[in-house]
Amino acid sequence: MEIGFTLIPSERKKGYCTEVVKLFVVFLFLSKDIVRIQARTDTRNIASQRVLEKTGFKKEGVLRKIIFMRGEWRDLSLFNILREEWKEPKILKF
Ligand SMILES: CC(C)(COP(=O)(O)OP(=O)(O)OC[C@H]1O[C@@H](n2cnc3c(N)ncnc32)[C@H](O)[C@@H]1OP(=O)(O)O)[C@@H](O)C(=O)NCCC(=O)NCCS
Repeated sequence: MEIGFTLIPSERKKGYCTEVVKLFVVFLFLSKDIVRIQARTDTRNIASQRVLEKTGFKKEGVLRKIIFMRGEWRDLSLFNILREEWKEPKILKF
């Protein structure tokens, strides 16, 4: 399962993306029979990588010159979170 995200410029840097990705990871692990969730970001995209790190994703490596976009070959960082590393929120336990 792979996720991606984009926020309209006026709503960036307010913590919304981190909040939504955290909730989405909870939803995916609780509702789908999956062992990992992955995301790819441009290696220069600090905001996106911070969102993933703060959500518990780990960097798996760099996919070098994996995509041609706006006139250049770009490197993408591959991040993942595994089910066994994911901490189920206590609030959801009965
Ligand atoms: C990536 C994106 C979704 C992040 O959304 P956001 O709601 O602004 O993210 P948050 O507010 O949750 O911030 C996450 C972290 O990134 C940091 N950050 C946000 N914008 C940043 C920027 N321009 N440069 C450096 N760091 C930045 C924040 O400070 C925060 O880190 P911190 O907690 O250590 O301070 C948003 O910037 C965006 O839509 N970008 C354009 C599309 C894009 O790049 N999508 C990702 C493709 S993989």
